[in-house]
Amino acid sequence: MATAPLEAFRSGSPAILPSFLRCDFGDLKGELGRLVDAGVKGLHLDVMDGHFVPNLTYGMPIVEGLRRHTDLPLDVHLMITDPLAYAKPMVEAGADLLTFHVEALRPDEAPDVASAIKDLGVGVGIALNPETPLSTVTSCLELVDMVLVMSVEAGFGGQAFNASVLDKLRSLRNSHPDLLLQIDGGIDLQTIKPARDAGCDLFVVGSAIFKQEDYASAMRDLEAAMHSENDSTVHGESAEGDERRNQGSDN
Ligand code: DX5
Ligand code: ZN
Repeated sequence: MATAPLEAFRSGSPAILPSFLRCDFGDLKGELGRLVDAGVKGLHLDVMDGHFVPNLTYGMPIVEGLRRHTDLPLDVHLMITDPLAYAKPMVEAGADLLTFHVEALRPDEAPDVASAIKDLGVGVGIALNPETPLSTVTSCLELVDMVLVMSVEAGFGGQAFNASVLDKLRSLRNSHPDLLLQIDGGIDLQTIKPARDAGCDLFVVGSAIFKQEDYASAMRDLEAAMHSENDSTVHGESAEGDERRNQGSDN
């Protein structure tokens, strides 16, 4: 059965979800207030264990702390080796949607992990990195609420968008019209529209919000870009995309 926050993600899409990775961790409550004032419809929380990815962020205390100060849907992206070990504590901390990485598991484990998370009464998503083929998640597509198509290798903010993953969105949109599709990594004023045109519903944004002074204006600009009528192939699967991929990351 779908949870109310999951319905909020569905009915609120297309939606931009700020990623709590590039924020000011010294002022989380202030950051939350600024995002609420900017009208965000949910928060994306990047949990990294320093093992599945070579970066370490935060766990249940931050999820619980944010939960105490907002009713916004909390979308928790688990970049961790053992998602099931932390699924229940994350739900108890206030997560509404838990997304795990298919690369963290043996192929036969993913459907069971998806079902176990679903049984906790929250939404469940499965994520795949840019080089991971779509075929690895096929066995889970009837079990999950969302597929997170990574447009950068999981682990760091500020990386360049990999336009080759747009094919995965198109393919999923065609085969599963009702599945929530999310993209994460390098989403900005140039890349949000091609992702939308490829069928994406939820757009995770770090740098393109948190590097701006005014989050409300950043959100307005991103929404205008997403809905613009301009040709969306600017950053398509092109040489320009390759050039952007080669730029560095900084978080
Ligand atoms: C990467 C994270 C993302 C990322 C988004 O592993 O899952 O949420 O930090 O940040 P930008 O928008 O800067 O790529
Ligand atoms: Zn993320």
